[in-house]
Amino acid sequence: AQQLLFTNPSDPPMVFHWFPFIGSTVIYGMDPPKFFRENRAKYGDVFTFVLLGKKTTVAVGPAGNDFILNGKLKDVNAEEIYSVLTTPVFGRDVVYDCPNAKLMEQKKFMKIALTTEAFKTYVPIISHEVTSYYKRDSAFKGKSGIVDIPKKMAEITIFTASHALQGSLIRSKFDESLADLYHDLDMGFTSINFVLHWAPLPWNRKRDHAQRTVAKIYIDTIKERRALGDADKELDILKHLMKSEYKDGTPVPDHEIAHMMIALLMAGQHSSSSTSSWIMLHLAQYPQVVEDLYKEQIKVLGADLPPLQYEDLAKLPLHQAIVKETLRINAPIHSIMRKVKQPMPVPGTKYVIPTSHVLLSAPGVSGSDPAYFPNPEKWDPYRWLPGSPNAPLMVRSEEEEEKVDYGYGIVSKGAASPYLPFGAGRHRCIGEHFANLQLQTIIAETVRLFKLSNVDGSNNIVGTDYASLFSRPLEPAKIRWERRD
Ligand code: HEM
Repeated sequence: AQQLLFTNPSDPPMVFHWFPFIGSTVIYGMDPPKFFRENRAKYGDVFTFVLLGKKTTVAVGPAGNDFILNGKLKDVNAEEIYSVLTTPVFGRDVVYDCPNAKLMEQKKFMKIALTTEAFKTYVPIISHEVTSYYKRDSAFKGKSGIVDIPKKMAEITIFTASHALQGSLIRSKFDESLADLYHDLDMGFTSINFVLHWAPLPWNRKRDHAQRTVAKIYIDTIKERRALGDADKELDILKHLMKSEYKDGTPVPDHEIAHMMIALLMAGQHSSSSTSSWIMLHLAQYPQVVEDLYKEQIKVLGADLPPLQYEDLAKLPLHQAIVKETLRINAPIHSIMRKVKQPMPVPGTKYVIPTSHVLLSAPGVSGSDPAYFPNPEKWDPYRWLPGSPNAPLMVRSEEEEEKVDYGYGIVSKGAASPYLPFGAGRHRCIGEHFANLQLQTIIAETVRLFKLSNVDGSNNIVGTDYASLFSRPLEPAKIRWERRD
């Protein structure tokens, strides 16, 4: 009754709850996609729920995605939400610990380093990291075996990303000390830290110590590489940042370079590692798809399967489709949040979102809507290839997308698209092409070496763990591998 009495007619409907502060926190936290689906069926595309005492308005569907993700700077703000979590992990003066205009410049520096020229050098690096991992790791000894795949994919992701993006000096440090420090930094991202980020708890102390230590490793590496001068031939992001200047002519200070490098490592690691785990789990569900991938490589590249090159990836549509389809069903970022800065009328509705609210975008909802993806529950990579009865509807190709420049280079606007695993607007992912390249190379090298299947031979797959900010497979998630002859 209280909820009804105080309802403003321009407020979106409120999800029913019993307790004021807790609201829907627990039920949302257990399974966010299910929570969105059920409440969309009850209340429509725009509704509000209470998350840790905050009125949080969800707007789903292509129009909702556009409303939030392409919101104007005067209307929506990301840093006021995220910085409590990210600043202690990344360090000061970068990403969400600076004005948005500075983040746009920083994204531009990072993005310029992600060029085709650099990508050409990354594919052989990633291939080598993957194959040598499978050679040396004890879980892949012998002719066949069973492996808890998320742990292995987390390691492969960090070795491949750190080597390609951050250079061989940083990669070598991952074998020594960086892996443990990375783990301590990561603890800063547990959801509970939205509330307890400041508390002198053991994991926050470890996080702060790790942040200082990792930043120093980067700063020392920067000095070592400056000393190398022209002898430093690597085309990685660190090198590019060392040469970058802000628009006003100021060179990027070393501490900001170090903090951006931490941000890059953390931003990419979770999403890519969760996605590569899901890919392997889906492939184990459908062993025939592994054979189709292997055949695709033989057909396109030849029976002797030469070392993989960047140019080969564009010729392997099924490999690309595996990544696309896995990100449709298992997008690692289920909730994207913004603080409302001005009352925001929702186009085509009577609702106005007040400044006391947080907005939540969940592109995964349209990604699993039968209106856009026939048989949405089915992991069907072939839907992305020509002639499939499950072909996506109303998903525009890269060329058809409207383009926009928010200050970090021209990107697809993604406005009103039902498929946005990399977000849209000024906060859109800059790592999309790198992630595709990395994931496709991991798939290609894995199917060259192994056949995969479920341990019990079934088509089952584990559920999703939503405990951290990034969703991932529930562990243990074991699959069977068998070495090809
Ligand atoms: C932003 C997804 C890999 C760097 C984002 C956003 C999404 C996303 C949804 C938007 C967040 C928001 O609007 O608040 C993914 C997925 C990945 C991936 C699904 C892999 C499968 C990477 C990689 C890198 C990276 C490999 C680094 C090389 C970034 C950065 C941002 C971003 C710097 C910008 C944050 C901002 O402007 O607020 N990513 N990402 N991501 N991502 Fe990724």
